[in-house]
Amino acid sequence: MNSEKLIKLFEAFVKKDSDAFHKIAWEIIEDEKRKKHHLLAAQLKHILIENTSSLNMNHIQQIPPIPRDNEKGFRLLDVKKFFLDWNDVILSKETEEILKQIVQELEKENLLNTYGLKPKRKILFYGPPGTGKTLTAKVLSSVIGYPLVFVRFESVISSYLGETASNLRKIFDFIEKGKWVVLFDEFDIIGKQRDDPTEHGEIKRVVNNFMLMLENYEGDSVIIAATNHPHLLDIGVWRRFDETVYFDLPDRERRKKIFEKYLKVLKKDKNINLNKLSEKTDGFSGSDIEQACIDALKNTILNGRELLSFDEVEKAILRQRNKIKAKRTGKYE
Ligand SMILES: Nc1ncnc2c1ncn2[C@@H]1O[C@H](COP(=O)(O)OP(=O)(O)O)[C@@H](O)[C@H]1O
Ligand SMILES: [Mg+2]
Repeated sequence: MNSEKLIKLFEAFVKKDSDAFHKIAWEIIEDEKRKKHHLLAAQLKHILIENTSSLNMNHIQQIPPIPRDNEKGFRLLDVKKFFLDWNDVILSKETEEILKQIVQELEKENLLNTYGLKPKRKILFYGPPGTGKTLTAKVLSSVIGYPLVFVRFESVISSYLGETASNLRKIFDFIEKGKWVVLFDEFDIIGKQRDDPTEHGEIKRVVNNFMLMLENYEGDSVIIAATNHPHLLDIGVWRRFDETVYFDLPDRERRKKIFEKYLKVLKKDKNINLNKLSEKTDGFSGSDIEQACIDALKNTILNGRELLSFDEVEKAILRQRNKIKAKRTGKYE
């Protein structure tokens, strides 16, 4: 073993610096793997995580040091715990069924294993912006009980040429060390069609790299990639996922439920009719409806009124509709 690492390991132990200890311990495991000492690497890995897992992984999972970008030192990811449930996101029956099946497969993993089957772990979320993809990843993380690892693409991509692939490697190394729900949000940034003519090879390399890492990944985490622009992904990317889940714009019934959810804070005037609000918001995403609701609530509160009126919500809907138009056309009205 490299003597420098041995010294660092001792120092970390003496200083009781658990982050430093884990960092160096993982480097040693990687070194051993590289030397093809696979048995030793597996034993060391077992001592480091599998032992702690039976004690506390399910409750307080140890978070290894957060990987950082070499050049700028940015954190490449964030780890957060959420406490949401299925009521926090309003989805179509079909979408909800697929998601619940994913959870069930994970819960019954041992049973599936006895038949040589494996739960789905690599999932692609796609659909228009504001339809609840990010929110659903948080719900899944809560329901499954694995913390959410949120991959920060700004940091992954914004680094110098050539650094991106190494950042991805660091992220996958981190993922290997625990049970997480990992969200690669706005995934299209790296999933961008590989033969895009405006692109000079770097993204192509990154995508190939990402797909290879995804394909080779056999750990316990659930990996979710989310995109608002599925057309930017080529067929090669789609094939790598065990499941693809479409998030559509909410229909009338769901829009009504979303209004109900986000208008709860205030007492409503008698004339508030959720069906009418729902009819007036065809084409709105969940996020658009939430924005209109917040807008109406704030106006009511700031004007010192206690009851939320239909008028107020209607005005907020109009304002939101103009914003949606502006976003689509780049023009304000
Ligand atoms: N289906 C939904 N049910 C409930 N709230 C939603 C839904 N879709 C969007 N929202 C609201 O809009 C916010 C932004 O949505 P987000 O999950 O970021 O959408 P996406 O990731 O699909 O762009 C959410 O945090 C939530 O408050
Ligand atoms: Mg999102």
